[in-house]
Amino acid sequence: MTRESESGLPIEPVYGPDDLQDWDAGEKLGAPGAYPFTRGVYPSMYTGRPWTMRQYAGFGTAAESNARYRQLIAHGTTGLSVAFDLPTQMGHDSDAPIAHGEVGKVGVAIDSVEDMRVLFGGIPLDQVSTSMTINAPAALLLLLYQLVAEEQGVSADRLTGTIQNDVLKEYIARGTYIFPPKPSLRLTADIFRYCRAEIPRWNTISISGYHMAEAGASPAQEIAFTLADGIEYVRTAVAAGMDVDDFAPRLSFFFVARTTILEEVAKFRAARRIWARVMREEFGAENPKSLMLRFHTQTAGVQLTAQQPEVNLVRVAVQGLAAVLGGTQSLHTNSFDEAIALPTDKSARLALRTQQVLAHETDVTATVDPFAGSYAVEKLTDDVEAAVVGLMDRVEELGGAVAAIERGFQKGEIERNAYRIAQETDSGERVVVGVNRFQLDEEEPYEPLRVDPAIEARQAERLAKLRAHRDQPAVDAALTALKKAAEGDDNVLYPMKEALKARATVGEVCNALRDVWGAYVPSDVF
Ligand code: 3HC
Repeated sequence: MTRESESGLPIEPVYGPDDLQDWDAGEKLGAPGAYPFTRGVYPSMYTGRPWTMRQYAGFGTAAESNARYRQLIAHGTTGLSVAFDLPTQMGHDSDAPIAHGEVGKVGVAIDSVEDMRVLFGGIPLDQVSTSMTINAPAALLLLLYQLVAEEQGVSADRLTGTIQNDVLKEYIARGTYIFPPKPSLRLTADIFRYCRAEIPRWNTISISGYHMAEAGASPAQEIAFTLADGIEYVRTAVAAGMDVDDFAPRLSFFFVARTTILEEVAKFRAARRIWARVMREEFGAENPKSLMLRFHTQTAGVQLTAQQPEVNLVRVAVQGLAAVLGGTQSLHTNSFDEAIALPTDKSARLALRTQQVLAHETDVTATVDPFAGSYAVEKLTDDVEAAVVGLMDRVEELGGAVAAIERGFQKGEIERNAYRIAQETDSGERVVVGVNRFQLDEEEPYEPLRVDPAIEARQAERLAKLRAHRDQPAVDAALTALKKAAEGDDNVLYPMKEALKARATVGEVCNALRDVWGAYVPSDVF
């Protein structure tokens, strides 16, 4: 009996040669590390270097998060990934009224260069690759990172890492936007130009589908709407006068890995093939690195259950395996208790150990793209590709990603799919172990990690001290220069860096830009 995949595609009980009748390996696959990159972006993939084990972490003040990063490094993590609290992500200081109750809650509070210095204390920035999940104020956090590197004597050309910097998906699914689309895309182009000139090894954007998946997007919607956002960013940078091969090699992506392992592997392989074709055929990119869809994966937070939380260890292991079999470059495995609270030290360590078992106890690093030639996975790859291209065409018909966002198209499609998933779960048609089948009569107690509520007051004291001891006229002059650049066409990152160096705060810099660009107000959709 044919089953339906997460993207609504048929999954046949048996596949055979007839399913791949006109299928040509040369055209569909290419060699690993070669166009269209279906089999992976590097010739040797994990046989040359395992994926980066990059655990997303951050909470409380910079000191608490610094301790967690040093712990993760000691446990063997190979990349850092910073979670910022909501006030930082929304460009507000910890002592702003709107920040009350959120300081240090879902990530680390960073108000100034003082906090950034503590966050990376004892961590040499020329020896780590750091991802920062920051979008609207991404430029500020990148510059604070560069300022701390300068204090460590590390030149910017040696820095490696990524800023998420993907504000379009914030309008679609996550919500941490500040400015309207036009100035936001201008800021994105400024970042591309600044990094090409000043921080050439930095990945300037992590075009994300993860959050759309968390909001209910199917695999086909996740890939289609993410690649459509990517096309919008490329068009913006080209329209701003940049040559596509000057910035495209430093674009990167971020997707989810669901428990439905076969479709997920097909999804990643289809995504690489589509992006390579778009970059070559629509944008005329010639540098092979411009055609490579390099991505980070996080296991599906939305599939974690609060019931029988230990069962999540199994889900995360399967999801991690899907990401690896799909050729991810970097991976975050969720902690089993994250449906309940922030990870404890032990659950964070277990999450990393899951990756280490995949890398060192299985044979998935022994050969590249093991599913190549599989009747089932190659057919699924073709079917997912066709569904993705169909959705990308619909976005294009609406005028591209921004125009479609302004009509609420992506948000509407995702919400309809989320509603379908909810109905299937409620009816029991979609089994969620421990939730609608195989439940316990009484859940066992679990003691979650608690964030100290005094953090907000401590952060406010740090801000008061910073403001009392800085050269206020220098801060005022720098913020005025920033506003002037924002009103004109000059790259805003240069005056922004001077303002942050003078100890202007994240909130003050974002407020200066709000004064010039205004704040985004979403259109209501369902
Ligand atoms: N052969 C040759 N070279 C290889 C190789 C191989 N097999 N494997 C890797 N390399 C090289 C690469 O070329 C690269 O060198 P370069 O920098 O000089 O090009 C180096 O080794 C590192 O490899 P990658 O770049 O592939 O791996 P990284 O881990 O450094 O980068 C990335 C991966 C996807 C490109 C990057 O953008 C990244 O790290 N992204 C992470 C994004 C992230 O962590 N996001 C977290 C989001 S959490 C969130 O949103 C919040 C919540 O709401 C979910």
